[in-house]
Amino acid sequence: MNTTFPLLHKIRFKKSNKENLIELYDEATEDYEFWSKGFNMHFGYYIPFKTTLFKRDTMLNEMNNQVFNRLRFNKQHGVVADLGCGIGGTIKYGLRKYPRLHIIGVTLSPFQVREGNKRLQQMNGLILEENYCKTSFPSDSFDSAYAIESLCHSGHSIEALEEAYRILKPTAKLVIADAFLKKDAEQLCPGSHYCYNQLCKGWSLEGLGSIQKVKKSLEKTGFKNVKIEDISFRVAPSVLHVPFAITGFIFKKLFSKETLKPQSWKNLKGSLFALLSGLHMKSFGYYIITAEK
Ligand SMILES: C[S@@+](CC[C@H](N)C(=O)[O-])C[C@H]1O[C@@H](n2cnc3c(N)ncnc32)[C@H](O)[C@@H]1O
Repeated sequence: MNTTFPLLHKIRFKKSNKENLIELYDEATEDYEFWSKGFNMHFGYYIPFKTTLFKRDTMLNEMNNQVFNRLRFNKQHGVVADLGCGIGGTIKYGLRKYPRLHIIGVTLSPFQVREGNKRLQQMNGLILEENYCKTSFPSDSFDSAYAIESLCHSGHSIEALEEAYRILKPTAKLVIADAFLKKDAEQLCPGSHYCYNQLCKGWSLEGLGSIQKVKKSLEKTGFKNVKIEDISFRVAPSVLHVPFAITGFIFKKLFSKETLKPQSWKNLKGSLFALLSGLHMKSFGYYIITAEK
Protein backbone atom coordinates (compact mmCIF):
# COMPACT_ATOMS: atom_id res chain seq x y z
CA MET A 1 0.00 0.00 0.00
CA ASN A 2 1.25 3.47 -0.84
CA THR A 3 1.45 5.08 2.58
CA THR A 4 2.42 8.45 1.13
CA PHE A 5 -0.86 8.80 -0.73
CA PRO A 6 -3.03 9.98 2.17
CA LEU A 7 -0.42 12.61 2.98
CA LEU A 8 -0.23 13.78 -0.64
CA HIS A 9 -4.00 13.84 -0.75
CA LYS A 10 -4.09 16.00 2.37
CA ILE A 11 -1.50 18.42 1.00
CA ARG A 12 -3.21 18.61 -2.39
CA PHE A 13 -6.66 19.30 -0.95
CA LYS A 14 -5.75 21.58 1.96
CA LYS A 15 -7.61 24.80 1.27
CA SER A 16 -5.64 28.00 0.88
CA ASN A 17 -6.33 30.91 3.20
CA LYS A 18 -8.00 32.69 0.27
CA GLU A 19 -10.39 29.76 -0.30
CA ASN A 20 -11.20 29.62 3.43
CA LEU A 21 -11.85 33.35 3.45
CA ILE A 22 -14.23 33.22 0.49
CA GLU A 23 -16.10 30.33 2.10
CA LEU A 24 -16.31 32.24 5.39
CA TYR A 25 -17.73 35.41 3.85
CA ASP A 26 -19.97 33.68 1.32
CA GLU A 27 -21.64 31.73 4.12
CA ALA A 28 -21.43 33.95 7.18
CA THR A 29 -21.88 37.50 5.85
CA GLU A 30 -25.65 37.31 6.49
CA ASP A 31 -24.95 36.71 10.19
CA TYR A 32 -23.50 40.21 10.48
CA GLU A 33 -27.00 41.67 10.35
CA PHE A 34 -27.23 40.57 13.97
CA TRP A 35 -24.07 42.57 14.74
CA SER A 36 -25.06 45.63 12.75
CA LYS A 37 -28.28 46.69 11.03
CA GLY A 38 -26.12 48.66 8.59
CA PHE A 39 -23.89 45.62 7.89
CA ASN A 40 -20.84 47.25 9.44
CA MET A 41 -18.45 44.30 9.64
CA HIS A 42 -16.07 46.01 12.02
CA PHE A 43 -15.70 47.33 15.59
CA GLY A 44 -16.78 50.78 16.69
CA TYR A 45 -15.35 54.08 17.88
CA TYR A 46 -16.73 55.39 21.15
CA ILE A 47 -17.04 59.11 21.85
CA PRO A 48 -18.80 59.97 25.13
CA PHE A 49 -22.09 61.86 24.59
CA LYS A 50 -21.86 61.41 20.81
CA THR A 51 -22.18 57.64 20.57
CA THR A 52 -24.15 55.40 22.93
CA LEU A 53 -22.49 52.53 24.78
CA PHE A 54 -25.55 50.31 24.51
CA LYS A 55 -26.38 51.14 20.90
CA ARG A 56 -23.66 49.32 19.01
CA ASP A 57 -24.44 50.79 15.59
CA THR A 58 -23.80 54.34 16.85
CA MET A 59 -20.20 53.30 17.60
CA LEU A 60 -19.80 51.26 14.39
CA ASN A 61 -21.01 54.19 12.29
CA GLU A 62 -18.70 56.53 14.18
CA MET A 63 -15.79 54.36 13.01
CA ASN A 64 -16.96 55.01 9.43
CA ASN A 65 -17.15 58.71 10.23
CA GLN A 66 -13.62 58.77 11.69
CA VAL A 67 -12.26 57.09 8.57
CA PHE A 68 -14.04 59.48 6.16
CA ASN A 69 -12.89 62.49 8.20
CA ARG A 70 -9.27 61.49 7.59
CA LEU A 71 -9.60 60.99 3.81
CA ARG A 72 -9.07 63.72 1.23
CA PHE A 73 -11.45 63.92 -1.75
CA ASN A 74 -13.57 66.25 -3.79
CA LYS A 75 -17.12 65.95 -2.36
CA GLN A 76 -18.68 66.67 -5.78
CA HIS A 77 -16.90 64.25 -8.07
CA GLY A 78 -14.20 62.43 -6.10
CA VAL A 79 -13.58 58.67 -6.49
CA VAL A 80 -12.66 56.65 -3.41
CA ALA A 81 -11.67 52.98 -3.09
CA ASP A 82 -12.82 50.66 -0.29
CA LEU A 83 -10.22 47.89 -0.12
CA GLY A 84 -12.04 44.90 1.39
CA CYS A 85 -15.51 46.37 1.50
CA GLY A 86 -17.68 43.57 2.92
CA ILE A 87 -21.26 44.05 1.87
CA GLY A 88 -20.81 47.79 1.48
CA GLY A 89 -21.84 49.05 4.94
CA THR A 90 -19.14 51.73 4.96
CA ILE A 91 -19.73 52.60 1.29
CA LYS A 92 -23.41 53.20 2.04
CA TYR A 93 -22.52 55.33 5.06
CA GLY A 94 -20.12 57.40 2.94
CA LEU A 95 -22.58 57.89 0.10
CA ARG A 96 -25.36 58.98 2.46
CA LYS A 97 -23.01 61.63 3.80
CA TYR A 98 -21.50 62.59 0.42
CA PRO A 99 -24.13 61.61 -2.23
CA ARG A 100 -22.09 62.92 -5.18
CA LEU A 101 -18.93 61.04 -4.28
CA HIS A 102 -18.19 57.75 -6.11
CA ILE A 103 -17.00 54.77 -4.09
CA ILE A 104 -15.72 51.53 -5.59
CA GLY A 105 -15.34 48.61 -3.23
CA VAL A 106 -13.49 45.34 -3.74
CA THR A 107 -14.00 42.01 -2.03
CA LEU A 108 -13.09 38.39 -2.73
CA SER A 109 -16.55 37.09 -1.83
CA PRO A 110 -19.02 36.67 -4.76
CA PHE A 111 -21.87 36.70 -2.22
CA GLN A 112 -20.80 40.13 -0.98
CA VAL A 113 -20.55 41.43 -4.55
CA ARG A 114 -24.07 40.25 -5.38
CA GLU A 115 -25.82 41.31 -2.19
CA GLY A 116 -23.75 44.45 -1.70
CA ASN A 117 -24.55 45.80 -5.16
CA LYS A 118 -28.27 45.23 -4.54
CA ARG A 119 -27.98 47.41 -1.45
CA LEU A 120 -26.18 50.15 -3.39
CA GLN A 121 -28.72 50.55 -6.18
CA GLN A 122 -29.51 54.22 -6.93
CA MET A 123 -26.26 55.24 -5.23
CA ASN A 124 -22.83 56.07 -6.69
CA GLY A 125 -21.37 52.87 -5.29
CA LEU A 126 -20.14 49.70 -6.95
CA ILE A 127 -18.63 46.50 -5.56
CA LEU A 128 -16.27 44.40 -7.68
CA GLU A 129 -14.83 40.94 -7.13
CA GLU A 130 -11.15 41.85 -7.04
CA ASN A 131 -8.09 41.13 -4.95
CA TYR A 132 -6.83 44.29 -3.25
CA CYS A 133 -3.26 42.99 -3.66
CA LYS A 134 -3.60 43.03 -7.46
CA THR A 135 -6.51 45.04 -8.81
CA SER A 136 -7.35 45.87 -12.41
CA PHE A 137 -7.55 49.62 -11.69
CA PRO A 138 -5.25 51.97 -13.60
CA SER A 139 -2.43 53.64 -11.67
CA ASP A 140 -3.10 57.08 -10.11
CA SER A 141 -6.88 56.71 -10.35
CA PHE A 142 -8.33 57.24 -6.84
CA ASP A 143 -8.61 60.39 -4.74
CA SER A 144 -8.38 58.36 -1.55
CA ALA A 145 -8.64 54.78 -0.32
CA TYR A 146 -9.51 53.14 2.97
CA ALA A 147 -9.37 49.64 4.41
CA ILE A 148 -11.34 48.77 7.53
CA GLU A 149 -10.44 45.44 9.16
CA SER A 150 -9.62 43.92 5.79
CA LEU A 151 -5.85 44.12 5.25
CA CYS A 152 -5.43 41.78 8.25
CA HIS A 153 -6.64 39.01 5.93
CA SER A 154 -3.38 39.35 4.00
CA GLY A 155 -1.25 39.99 7.10
CA HIS A 156 -1.00 43.73 6.28
CA SER A 157 1.31 42.62 3.50
CA ILE A 158 3.59 44.90 1.54
CA GLU A 159 1.83 43.71 -1.68
CA ALA A 160 -1.46 45.18 -0.44
CA LEU A 161 0.21 48.47 0.58
CA GLU A 162 2.05 48.72 -2.74
CA GLU A 163 -1.16 48.14 -4.67
CA ALA A 164 -2.94 50.83 -2.64
CA TYR A 165 -0.05 53.19 -3.39
CA ARG A 166 -0.18 52.38 -7.11
CA ILE A 167 -3.89 53.10 -7.55
CA LEU A 168 -3.86 56.37 -5.55
CA LYS A 169 -3.33 59.74 -7.20
CA PRO A 170 -0.34 61.78 -6.00
CA THR A 171 -1.15 63.50 -2.63
CA ALA A 172 -4.11 61.14 -2.11
CA LYS A 173 -4.64 59.57 1.32
CA LEU A 174 -4.86 56.00 2.54
CA VAL A 175 -6.63 55.32 5.84
CA ILE A 176 -6.40 51.93 7.54
CA ALA A 177 -8.44 51.02 10.64
CA ASP A 178 -7.47 47.65 12.04
CA ALA A 179 -5.97 45.58 14.84
CA PHE A 180 -2.19 45.16 14.86
CA LEU A 181 0.44 43.42 16.94
CA LYS A 182 2.51 45.60 19.26
CA LYS A 183 5.49 43.24 18.87
CA ASP A 184 6.58 40.46 16.56
CA ALA A 185 4.44 37.29 16.61
CA GLU A 186 7.43 35.26 17.90
CA GLN A 187 7.66 37.52 20.97
CA LEU A 188 4.07 36.94 22.12
CA CYS A 189 3.56 35.28 25.51
CA PRO A 190 1.93 31.79 25.37
CA GLY A 191 -1.53 33.19 26.22
CA SER A 192 -1.39 35.88 23.55
CA HIS A 193 0.06 33.40 21.09
CA TYR A 194 -2.80 30.97 21.63
CA CYS A 195 -5.46 33.69 21.24
CA TYR A 196 -3.68 35.02 18.16
CA ASN A 197 -3.60 31.59 16.47
CA GLN A 198 -7.27 30.97 17.22
CA LEU A 199 -8.22 34.44 16.02
CA CYS A 200 -6.38 33.88 12.72
CA LYS A 201 -7.99 30.45 12.27
CA GLY A 202 -11.49 31.67 13.11
CA TRP A 203 -11.41 34.69 10.83
CA SER A 204 -9.08 33.24 8.15
CA LEU A 205 -6.41 35.89 8.70
CA GLU A 206 -2.90 35.47 7.30
CA GLY A 207 -1.87 37.31 10.47
CA LEU A 208 -1.66 40.77 11.94
CA GLY A 209 1.25 43.01 11.05
CA SER A 210 3.31 44.51 13.85
CA ILE A 211 2.47 48.20 13.95
CA GLN A 212 6.09 49.42 13.73
CA LYS A 213 6.86 47.11 10.80
CA VAL A 214 3.71 48.23 8.95
CA LYS A 215 4.75 51.86 9.44
CA LYS A 216 8.16 51.04 7.95
CA SER A 217 6.53 49.13 5.06
CA LEU A 218 4.30 52.11 4.28
CA GLU A 219 7.33 54.43 4.20
CA LYS A 220 9.31 51.94 2.12
CA THR A 221 6.39 51.80 -0.33
CA GLY A 222 6.65 55.57 -0.75
CA PHE A 223 3.90 56.86 1.56
CA LYS A 224 4.65 60.13 3.37
CA ASN A 225 3.36 61.64 6.61
CA VAL A 226 2.45 58.25 8.07
CA LYS A 227 0.42 58.96 11.21
CA ILE A 228 -0.37 56.20 13.69
CA GLU A 229 -3.17 56.67 16.24
CA ASP A 230 -3.72 54.09 18.98
CA ILE A 231 -7.51 54.04 19.37
CA SER A 232 -7.73 50.82 21.43
CA PHE A 233 -9.69 52.50 24.25
CA ARG A 234 -12.19 54.00 21.80
CA VAL A 235 -12.73 50.57 20.26
CA ALA A 236 -12.89 48.59 23.52
CA PRO A 237 -16.59 49.34 24.35
CA SER A 238 -17.77 47.76 21.09
CA VAL A 239 -15.43 44.78 21.55
CA LEU A 240 -17.11 44.22 24.93
CA HIS A 241 -20.38 43.73 23.04
CA VAL A 242 -19.00 40.46 21.59
CA PRO A 243 -20.09 37.98 24.31
CA PHE A 244 -23.61 39.45 24.39
CA ALA A 245 -23.87 39.45 20.59
CA ILE A 246 -22.65 35.84 20.37
CA THR A 247 -25.09 34.64 23.05
CA GLY A 248 -27.98 36.54 21.49
CA PHE A 249 -27.17 35.17 18.05
CA ILE A 250 -27.02 31.53 19.27
CA PHE A 251 -30.31 31.90 21.20
CA LYS A 252 -32.00 33.45 18.17
CA LYS A 253 -30.94 30.48 16.04
CA LEU A 254 -32.05 27.99 18.73
CA PHE A 255 -35.49 29.58 19.10
CA SER A 256 -36.04 29.66 15.36
CA LYS A 257 -34.87 25.99 15.23
CA GLU A 258 -32.20 26.87 12.68
CA THR A 259 -28.89 25.05 12.76
CA LEU A 260 -25.70 27.05 12.88
CA LYS A 261 -23.67 26.70 9.69
CA PRO A 262 -20.00 25.64 10.06
CA GLN A 263 -18.83 29.06 8.84
CA SER A 264 -21.08 30.78 11.39
CA TRP A 265 -19.36 28.80 14.18
CA LYS A 266 -16.00 29.75 12.71
CA ASN A 267 -17.01 33.40 12.64
CA LEU A 268 -18.23 33.27 16.25
CA LYS A 269 -14.94 31.67 17.29
CA GLY A 270 -13.04 34.48 15.53
CA SER A 271 -15.15 37.08 17.37
CA LEU A 272 -14.58 35.44 20.75
CA PHE A 273 -10.82 35.31 20.23
CA ALA A 274 -10.83 38.92 19.03
CA LEU A 275 -12.20 39.81 22.47
CA LEU A 276 -9.71 37.56 24.29
CA SER A 277 -6.80 38.91 22.22
CA GLY A 278 -7.97 42.46 22.98
CA LEU A 279 -7.53 41.75 26.69
CA HIS A 280 -3.79 41.18 26.09
CA MET A 281 -3.14 44.88 25.83
CA LYS A 282 0.65 44.56 25.74
CA SER A 283 0.42 42.40 22.62
CA PHE A 284 -2.47 43.80 20.58
CA GLY A 285 -3.74 47.27 19.76
CA TYR A 286 -6.29 48.86 17.45
CA TYR A 287 -5.02 51.68 15.30
CA ILE A 288 -6.02 54.17 12.63
CA ILE A 289 -3.20 54.77 10.20
CA THR A 290 -3.28 57.75 7.83
CA ALA A 291 -0.72 57.98 5.05
CA GLU A 292 -0.25 60.23 2.04
CA LYS A 293 1.03 59.36 -1.43
C1 LIG B 1 -14.14 41.90 8.25
S1 LIG B 1 -14.65 42.24 6.61
C2 LIG B 1 -14.66 44.00 6.69
C3 LIG B 1 -15.58 44.58 5.68
C4 LIG B 1 -15.72 46.09 5.66
N1 LIG B 1 -14.45 46.75 5.51
C5 LIG B 1 -16.40 46.57 6.89
O1 LIG B 1 -15.71 47.11 7.77
O2 LIG B 1 -17.63 46.44 7.01
C6 LIG B 1 -13.21 41.89 5.62
C7 LIG B 1 -13.41 42.11 4.14
O3 LIG B 1 -12.13 42.07 3.48
C8 LIG B 1 -12.28 41.39 2.26
N2 LIG B 1 -10.98 40.89 1.81
C9 LIG B 1 -10.10 40.12 2.47
N3 LIG B 1 -9.02 39.87 1.74
C10 LIG B 1 -9.21 40.49 0.54
C11 LIG B 1 -8.44 40.62 -0.65
N4 LIG B 1 -7.26 40.05 -0.76
N5 LIG B 1 -8.97 41.35 -1.66
C12 LIG B 1 -10.18 41.94 -1.55
N6 LIG B 1 -10.95 41.86 -0.44
C13 LIG B 1 -10.47 41.14 0.59
C14 LIG B 1 -13.28 40.29 2.56
O4 LIG B 1 -13.80 39.76 1.36
C15 LIG B 1 -14.27 41.08 3.42
O5 LIG B 1 -15.16 41.73 2.58
